[in-house]
Amino acid sequence: MYSTTDGHTVEICRRLKQTAEEHGETVELRNLKEEPELRSGTFDKIVIGASIRYGKHQPLVNKFIRKNQETLEAHPNAFFSVNVVARKPEKNQPETNPYLQKFLERIDWQPQRLGVFAGRIDFPSLGFVDKHMIRFIMWMTKGPTDPLSVVEFTDWDSVEAFGRMIAEM
Ligand SMILES: Cc1cc2nc3c(=O)[nH]c(=O)nc-3n(C[C@H](O)[C@H](O)[C@H](O)COP(=O)(O)O)c2cc1C
Repeated sequence: MYSTTDGHTVEICRRLKQTAEEHGETVELRNLKEEPELRSGTFDKIVIGASIRYGKHQPLVNKFIRKNQETLEAHPNAFFSVNVVARKPEKNQPETNPYLQKFLERIDWQPQRLGVFAGRIDFPSLGFVDKHMIRFIMWMTKGPTDPLSVVEFTDWDSVEAFGRMIAEM
C-alpha cells in the first residue's frame, strides 16, 4: 500500500516488490488514494509506504491506518517513510528520522518493522512555488539547489535489504 505525490514512493515499492518476489513472495501494489479495501485474510503481510511533503505524510495515510488498524495488527506488517531529510546519515534510520518518529507518536498502530528512505527531487517538474520553496529548504540544509537538476538520494541497497526483510517476515 503506498501514498505518493510525484511517483518516487511507488518506484521504491516496485523495487521492494521485485526483491520480495525474488525471494518467493507474491506482491500486489495498491495506491491508498484509491481507498483499497483491506479485508482480513486477503494478504499474508501488509506494508505501507508514504512520502513526506512539507513535513507530513498525506492525511489519507493516517485515515487508512485508523480505519484498518485491527486488520493491520492481525498480520505481519511494516511501514516506511520517504523524505529528503533521510539523505543525511544522521537522519536515515527509523530511530533518527524526525518525520517517522513524529508520525509514530501520532498514530496508535505500532508497525512491526520500520524503514526510511531518502527520496528524489525533480526540480524541473515542480511548479514555481514548490520549486522555489524546495530550493530554499535545500539551501538552508546545505543540499542541491540547481533548478534544472533531478537529484535522487535513494540508497537502493537499503531498499533491497528492506525487501529481503519483508520476504523473511
Ligand atoms: C513540494 C515538496 C515538499 C516536500 N517537503 C519535504 C519535507 O518537508 N521534508 C522532506 O524531508 N522532504 C520533503 N520533500 C521531498 C519528498 O519527500 C521527496 O521528493 C520524495 O521522493 C517524494 O516522494 P513521492 O514522489 O512518492 O511523493 C518534498 C518534496 C516536494 C516536491
